[in-house]
Amino acid sequence: MSALTDRFGRIHDYLRISVTDRCNLRCLYCMPEEGVEFAPSSELLTYDAIVQVVETAASLGISKLRITGGEPLVRPDLEDLIRRLAAIPGIRDISMTTNGIMLADRAEALRSAGLNRVNISLDTLDPARFRLIARRGDLKRVMEGIEAAVRVGFGPIKLNCVLLKGINEDEIASFLKISSEQPLHVRFIEYMPIGHADENWKSHYLPLSRVLEIAEEQQFEVTRLHDIVGNGPSEDYRIAGGKGSFGLIHPVSDHFCQRCNRLRLTADGNLKPCLYWVDELNVKQAIGDPAALRELFMRALDIKPLNHEMAAKLSDESQSHEPTGRRMSQIGG
Ligand code: GTP
Ligand code: 5AD
Ligand code: SF4
Repeated sequence: MSALTDRFGRIHDYLRISVTDRCNLRCLYCMPEEGVEFAPSSELLTYDAIVQVVETAASLGISKLRITGGEPLVRPDLEDLIRRLAAIPGIRDISMTTNGIMLADRAEALRSAGLNRVNISLDTLDPARFRLIARRGDLKRVMEGIEAAVRVGFGPIKLNCVLLKGINEDEIASFLKISSEQPLHVRFIEYMPIGHADENWKSHYLPLSRVLEIAEEQQFEVTRLHDIVGNGPSEDYRIAGGKGSFGLIHPVSDHFCQRCNRLRLTADGNLKPCLYWVDELNVKQAIGDPAALRELFMRALDIKPLNHEMAAKLSDESQSHEPTGRRMSQIGG
């Protein structure tokens, strides 16, 4: 049995590492327009510390890493960290989730450093709407980032589209077309109630059953897939004859916690057993002590809950435990 098996028999082989809570955008589902109080740089885990945590994690059975933020590319010299992580015995797959704004110039160097895959946020194909959702930045830069990612040959490139009722649901058909015409994997994502006023979330939450309805209205013939590279919570499909594919990530309407294989490390040095709940363990005092780090991983699994309770928020039911006070940008998704 893998060392990282939790109380419910779930094997953990995937660690999401947030390298910064800062971001060059302010997406409305993630961060308030005025920003949040960012952790001072001195509070962030150094690259040396992250490498140590990953060495311990790899010795326990973690083989897949995902680099997240905030926006990971705003942290200086990320290529150096990736190169060091790629050299750790047992690490087989390193991917990154990015907003794409700074990707075009860095794609080549990231690929050479050992990054295998990228997931890029893309919530709209319309430049004016991009400014409404992301509140900063320029859609053109994201598109250039996607093109560069294709050009340098990253593994399957996934586009993350958070669906927002009344904001971008009218673009579902266009995104489905992209998944058919281009060799890209488009993932529709349900808006999650993390770090938000619940009323704002409820008014924009859209269940993903809408995507399959639109596919039917458009008379796309879709088949279920089971072979997309990655370890994610996505339920995948292909439109007949399509070059790419699409996926549904529906944590609210139908959660996938029973298949959870992941732990998270926040930029300020906390190991989070679950995206949703408040519980976390600070790793800073264990840096330099591999036995203490191992112990922290074991404790994280001991306290990992069976599932989140996002759906209960839709009907204002009480929660069994306290949800995290962090924003999505402070966790990394
Ligand atoms: P791969 O499948 O490895 O490519 O990655 P991924 O889809 O897990 O990662 P990504 O960062 O692209 O996340 C896509 C969406 O899934 C984001 O909205 C994440 O917040 C969400 N997500 C990732 N992991 C979890 C999880 O454990 N629970 C929940 N509820 N959502 C998650
Ligand atoms: N709900 C769902 N997905 C979110 N993301 C950020 N905030 C939310 C939210 N509230 C997504 C981003 C990015 C990934 C890391 O998480 O779009 O692709
Ligand atoms: Fe930044 Fe990503 Fe959050 Fe958008 S979703 S504000 S790109 S961290």
